[in-house]
Amino acid sequence: MPDQPDEELHAIRLQVNGVPHDLRVPARRLLSDCLRHDLRLTGTHVGCEHGVCGACTVLLDDEPVRSCLTLAVGAQGTRITTVEGLAAPDGSPHPVQRAFAECHGLQCGFCTPGFLTLVAAYLAENPAPTEEEARAAISGNLCRCTGYQNIVAAVLRAAELGAAGDTAGERPESCGETGDIRREDSVPTQATAQSPRGRGDLR
Ligand code: FES
Ligand code: FES
Repeated sequence: MPDQPDEELHAIRLQVNGVPHDLRVPARRLLSDCLRHDLRLTGTHVGCEHGVCGACTVLLDDEPVRSCLTLAVGAQGTRITTVEGLAAPDGSPHPVQRAFAECHGLQCGFCTPGFLTLVAAYLAENPAPTEEEARAAISGNLCRCTGYQNIVAAVLRAAELGAAGDTAGERPESCGETGDIRREDSVPTQATAQSPRGRGDLR
């Protein structure tokens, strides 16, 4: 939604992927819009725009949040990591990115930035999840291509890579070793979702 000409603007400073940005935004500007439109970081995707799908997940001070439920002014002074900031400074992919590639944890890729940021934060706190824990960890994010089996495998593979200090061999040991996840069981539901929280008010 374009800014109104007479709309009051607020000065904020965001540190995004290690780079400080000084911005002036309306109070109602969503963090997702701020990242995509003001900073041109379009890796953060917007799906449902009301906190259900998780496509817009970014890390705020290392904690996953739904950027479509977060006001940019509410993120003032925080450290934000988007999918563009996961790779190492030399461009090496993050273990989670590597694992998703190895295990084919994406189909169309629309949901992938949200999964990558979520899983990176999750594994930082829980470096050795079981398959059941991995499935629960991603249950708040939706994949419209319903490729959950490979996504679960990718979480487990990322844990392997992390535990090995990203020096594990090329053979993805955990890919394809997840249980028989029936499609109807694999689709997260509102009841099971452990959604990242949003900051700020809903529009
Ligand atoms: S766009 Fe779906 S939760 Fe934000
Ligand atoms: S890979 Fe297509 S929506 Fe998840």
